[in-house]
Amino acid sequence: MKRSRIVGTGHFVPEQVVTNDDLAKIIDTNNEWIVERTGIRERRWFTPGKDTVTSMSVEASKMALKRAGLSHKEIDLIVFATITPDYFVPGNGVLLQRELGMQGIGAIDIRNACSGFIYSLSVADQFIKTCMYKNILVVGAEIQSSALDKSDEGRSSAVIFADGAGAVVLSAVESEQPGILSTHLHADGDYAEELYLKDPGSSREIRLSPEIIDQPSFKMFMNGNTVFKHAVVRFREVILEALEFNQLKADDIDLLIPHQANLRISNFIQEKMGLPDHKVFNNIMYYGNTTAATIPIALSEAWEQGRIKEGDLICLAAFGSGFTWASALLRW
Ligand code: UT7
Repeated sequence: MKRSRIVGTGHFVPEQVVTNDDLAKIIDTNNEWIVERTGIRERRWFTPGKDTVTSMSVEASKMALKRAGLSHKEIDLIVFATITPDYFVPGNGVLLQRELGMQGIGAIDIRNACSGFIYSLSVADQFIKTCMYKNILVVGAEIQSSALDKSDEGRSSAVIFADGAGAVVLSAVESEQPGILSTHLHADGDYAEELYLKDPGSSREIRLSPEIIDQPSFKMFMNGNTVFKHAVVRFREVILEALEFNQLKADDIDLLIPHQANLRISNFIQEKMGLPDHKVFNNIMYYGNTTAATIPIALSEAWEQGRIKEGDLICLAAFGSGFTWASALLRW
């Protein structure tokens, strides 16, 4: 058995900064409400004709590969988490593969929304542990801003979701070396409709028509209160599960990187886990909620800022649409 280790991180966010005041010009909202309820001060939105999920993931991947000291030719597999692919079909993994000149290797797409990156990391980890592959590129990237309901009804989601990409390179190391200790995946489909985007669904007689475009089902629906209440419980549960599995305590965590859903959720978990400020990484203030991209972007920034050192115990945790939730514990 091998162990997998993150050997390089990278990220890319689009140039266009959208502040809360910018949003208040198009939606009935204000800076004070957004900061108080979400912690977000600004976010990045893509520029149509310039940024795509593929182009952003290319930049993030190149950075991760460079930091890993690996050539694209050494990558054996791509695992790509997104719910906002450039095409309906095929998935984004093949598009990234083409752009990076990695034709021939496998490319898997994962659609587990906010938990997508940890699900992807877990999938990649299994391939490495079983010695099938040596180096895997794991990506989380989204363009959410083009699907937001920017009317007053959609304001609670429109102020949160945003665009960006993050990537890590996972490499095989000997089992006694530092790396991913464990991953833990969960889902409860009973709550599928609490945070979902129904259309264009395949089970309609006519998948897409002018009438459907005007329906609420064509916009992302989020029951914010329900999602919030479940998130704070599941985040804590899945972090404790990872700690218990490895016979470790909350105190042992050097850095917790929670999915950046809402700063109030992160702060609540931090308080419940009894972690001091320097042991939790948040960047939602600048980037909003980029769904599958929040964790790899945060990992990359935390590493750049010297917040992650060799030997540190890093905990990743996420919760989102599905509901799905997941955690990963790693020794850096
Ligand atoms: O990443 C995937 C998982 N997603 C999450 O984890 C998100 C979880 N949920 C949340 O983060 C929060 O529920 C939201 C930020 C979405 C909403 O915050 P909230 O504190 O739950 O607000 P609320 O929906 O209960 O709304 C409170 C009030 C309402 O007004 P009334 O009825 O009290 O008069 C809303 O109409 O705030 C109003 N409101 C807004 N006001 C200004 C809702 N959105 C806005 C807005 N600007 N953007």
